[in-house]
Amino acid sequence: MEVQQQSPKVGAGLSFAALTMLYSVMLLGVYITASHQGLSCPDWPLCPNGFALPSERHFFEHYHRVMVIITAALIYMTAAYTFWNTKPARRTAMIAAIVVSVQIVFGMLVVTLRLEPLIVAIHLSTGILLFAMTLITFLTSLRLARRRRESTTL
Ligand code: HEM
Repeated sequence: MEVQQQSPKVGAGLSFAALTMLYSVMLLGVYITASHQGLSCPDWPLCPNGFALPSERHFFEHYHRVMVIITAALIYMTAAYTFWNTKPARRTAMIAAIVVSVQIVFGMLVVTLRLEPLIVAIHLSTGILLFAMTLITFLTSLRLARRRRESTTL
């Protein structure tokens, strides 16, 4: 049975939100590395204060982790939506959903293996791969949404 192609606008909106959050998570991550704050939260999965307001020392690491939760939720939602509704964008969205799960595991390893250089390098490159997959999902959904709009206004 042919899958019904619902509004690609929703897929474009979800993937754009995921992309924006992802960019912010990566920006924070690079800041944490550059300012040598990588081990400011030695606990896992959250910093010592949990979801409570972090102390100054834990600020960036705390928000890197909290923002990852929101980002991952958006990436999973994008994957679920495109899987059922936006066929051409579904492959990269599914890859992004898998890669974000792997990235969270590497985030854990970055902390528990105390900034092992190889793990930090994999964490950075997996982040770039994740960004690429989410960007392609967004651009594909956007192209479909525009095409849909043009065909309905003709
Ligand atoms: C969507 C998921 C994630 C993305 C896209 C992401 C991205 C990044 C990026 C781009 C960096 C900078 C790496 C560098 O400059 O070499 C970084 C650093 C870091 N991330 Fe993540 N991250 C994610 C999840 C996590 C999670 C779940 C943790 C868990 C605690 C974590 C912990 C860290 C730490 C501690 C650093 C600093 C590493 C250092 O000081 O060298 N990340 N992250």
